[in-house]
Amino acid sequence: METETNTTAALLIWDTHAHLDDRRFKSDLAEVLRRAQEAGIRKMLNVGHSEATSRRSIEMAERYEFMYASVGAHPHDAKDCTTATWDKLAQWANHAKVVAWGEIGLDYYRDLSPRDVQKKAFIEQIELANAAGLPIIIHNRDAHGDLVSVVKEHPPVHGGVFHSYSGSWDMAKGLLNQGFFLSFSGPLTYPDARRAVEVAAHVPGDRFLVETDCPYLPPQPHRGQRNEPAYVHYVVERLAQIRNIPYEEVARLSSANAEKLFQRARSFRE
Ligand code: NI
Repeated sequence: METETNTTAALLIWDTHAHLDDRRFKSDLAEVLRRAQEAGIRKMLNVGHSEATSRRSIEMAERYEFMYASVGAHPHDAKDCTTATWDKLAQWANHAKVVAWGEIGLDYYRDLSPRDVQKKAFIEQIELANAAGLPIIIHNRDAHGDLVSVVKEHPPVHGGVFHSYSGSWDMAKGLLNQGFFLSFSGPLTYPDARRAVEVAAHVPGDRFLVETDCPYLPPQPHRGQRNEPAYVHYVVERLAQIRNIPYEEVARLSSANAEKLFQRARSFRE
């Protein structure tokens, strides 16, 4: 990987969505974290999507000072969630380094749980996040219409982010009006990213985040490989190009936005 490390030393970039507990990082996590530091990635949010990954996210956040955690159950597993699941997640949500609830939402692409069950689990978790004082991280795949109506009827009171936003600018306008943040990831760097580019060009400077979703969604130069937090700099670069502002400005804005969204959670509970 060729990154320019000379100008990045003073930057603070948040990778707001990583899955570093994935087994693909098992053998070289220390190296991965070192490369992230060198690329200016100073804070990372490790995202839970099941009981096991939520617990592991908290363990990682306890081990590394620069890491934060979220808890939640993915729509894929909605059919297996019980009140015991919700109780456990709600208990973990009180941990000092848990700053968000998710990823939660709807996935009509793979449809691994029935759609009405996905919706129920989503609504349940919005309410739990509200009670815990946490913003939500939303996963949305081919479910735009239903997703918009669920968050309208059950608004997350501590805000939320549409992770790896893939919808239209038209839909984005409605979500921004509701106070949501939009997060950009590797696909923004793909040659066919016309829709995401339009959103990235128009989203207000105080409403976007950056993320990797590693090990998934590698940026264009690393397609087909494992993604990692250091590569979030490609997303920052692409945003700078699209918005015609300096790299440092994108880094500054996206991190300030992440602090705002996730800090809210912490101050609420202090
Ligand atoms: Ni994810």
